[in-house]
Amino acid sequence: FTIDISKPVASVNPAMYGIFFEDINFAADGGLYAELIKNRSFEFPDAFTGWQPFGKVSIESESPCFDRNPHYVRITNDGRLLRAGIDNEGFRGIGLKKDESYNLTFYARTKSAKPIKISVQVVRPDGSNPVVKTVNVSGSEWKKYSVEIKPAYTEAHNRIRLVVQDRGTVDFDHISMFPANTWKNRPGGLRRDLAQALYDLNPGVFRFPGGCIIEGNSLATRYQWKNSVGPVENRPLNENRWNYTFKHKAFPDYFQTYGLGFFEYFQLAEDLGAEPLPVISCGLSCQYESNEVVPMDSLQPYVQDALDLIEFANGDTTSVWGKVRAQMGHPAPFGLKMLAVGNEQWGKVYPKRLEVFAKAIRQKYPDIQLVGSSGPSASGDRFDYLWPEMKRLGVDLVDEHYYMSPEWFFSNAARYDNYDRKGPKVFAGEYASHHKETQKANNFLSALSEAAFMTGLERNADIVRLATYAPLFAHVDAWQWNPDMIWYDNLRSMRTPNYYVQQLYAMNPGTDVVPLTNNGKPVTGQDSIYASATTDKATGEIIIKIVNANNKEYNASFAIKGLKKNTLSDGVMYMLQDNNLLSTNSLDAEKVVPHMSQLPAIGQSLDLNLPPRSFIVARVKTK
Ligand code: AHR
Repeated sequence: FTIDISKPVASVNPAMYGIFFEDINFAADGGLYAELIKNRSFEFPDAFTGWQPFGKVSIESESPCFDRNPHYVRITNDGRLLRAGIDNEGFRGIGLKKDESYNLTFYARTKSAKPIKISVQVVRPDGSNPVVKTVNVSGSEWKKYSVEIKPAYTEAHNRIRLVVQDRGTVDFDHISMFPANTWKNRPGGLRRDLAQALYDLNPGVFRFPGGCIIEGNSLATRYQWKNSVGPVENRPLNENRWNYTFKHKAFPDYFQTYGLGFFEYFQLAEDLGAEPLPVISCGLSCQYESNEVVPMDSLQPYVQDALDLIEFANGDTTSVWGKVRAQMGHPAPFGLKMLAVGNEQWGKVYPKRLEVFAKAIRQKYPDIQLVGSSGPSASGDRFDYLWPEMKRLGVDLVDEHYYMSPEWFFSNAARYDNYDRKGPKVFAGEYASHHKETQKANNFLSALSEAAFMTGLERNADIVRLATYAPLFAHVDAWQWNPDMIWYDNLRSMRTPNYYVQQLYAMNPGTDVVPLTNNGKPVTGQDSIYASATTDKATGEIIIKIVNANNKEYNASFAIKGLKKNTLSDGVMYMLQDNNLLSTNSLDAEKVVPHMSQLPAIGQSLDLNLPPRSFIVARVKTK
């Protein structure tokens, strides 16, 4: 192979490799958002979803505590019953860790003249309740109460029980419980291990909040970002589009509290050092469901939402929405540069609508980059009519999705080699290798094929500017879609082989693509080898990414052209390898993980021994 470092062909977008977050598979409520109580505001259509009442318990809405979440629970201990109360089941159980602190809070009021004793109990699966705390509720005005819970054991499937111990009636609302140990120790924040996994990926871009979720099963249930900001107690509940799986009602208890809302998404992007990339509804509901279309003359509120979102992110604190951001604790702008309008909008009704958004956004915010959609164009011609439309509208990037077989990923490493260089750039916004024979497991085969495909994204970094794998998260007991990059239960999390491929790319992007050839040709699968190379201006390194998809060893020798002093020095190599393509990681053990080793001082060329079925990233210093 030859690498010519004197002839950079493209600069790599520093934001190139990133993440796409969507509340699917219990990714937000029940996942990254560390809330442990399900249906905390009693707003699910069946207000007792997640709750088991006992004794005299009713749902009320008179003089509510929160006007946009008006329901609350009334519990009466009338003396005839031994007790009255409610149990919460959490998100497939409530996971608690030994000696860790958890804050349980609720709002309550009582008309009783005397304070009423409430007990808060942790109930284990065997029915024992080893943790009991008490709190006295008094006064007829709503007040917030809090209780610290510190279990002396670790258990994944607890329930939380509230019991009215004294005779009397108490109203409760927004019963919530978070670990004290959240990401950055923010009260009401994110699950630490999951946020850490995102941080460790070193993502350049953070796309949120979906996916189909932004479209909704119907227009009425589309994601409306304005409902997701302000005090969490008053963010109205919304259906989760993923409580349906392609018209099959699979998760009737899956709703969005919006506790993880747009402020938190922007904040997380900032924490991760990633460019925020929000996606908003363009007035079309989910293509798999109702397919509702907003008439052109009713599109204005949708466009206004887009403009207001830019103000929320970037406006100064005197602007209406900039002020909301400041009141939430972030007076400085979030520095939004890109906005996606529409997700997988496949219909011909889309470009006409996008045009209206594009005009309004460009007029008010000419510096914002606009991301359009072409749907999953992997199958070739299905949505080809959209690309010319995106070009006509001059969108900056087109979001392409492909959920295809490992064979497709291997054979598409050259997909972008001949793409139109005069049109919009590409955002590979959702992709994952689906190995149907293993029920779409996150196995090493899928990861290796993604690594091979991504050499093609990198070689074409002049046109492919962003790439995000999808979906990101899945709860092992509550998922609708696989494969997914990170899996977890109520206590533990696991990084898949696919995660490590993404991490190796995102940790080692380099700044400039340089030609890596074999007999003058890019390496796109000849002899089942796939490769790309970049240089890093800041460190002076050459970074090689190479996949050996063979079942035998391969010796790769690289002649480096353009070395100033004609020598390479030492380097480092990361390798993801497994002889068994079907290997997976699990919550108990991560088998497929990258290993680092030193590359010795190497003179003028580099020899790499590629074990069978391996993905290697080599960083070599030049002298
Ligand atoms: O990633 C899961 C879903 O796949 C996304 O919501 C949607 O955009 C695509 O169909």
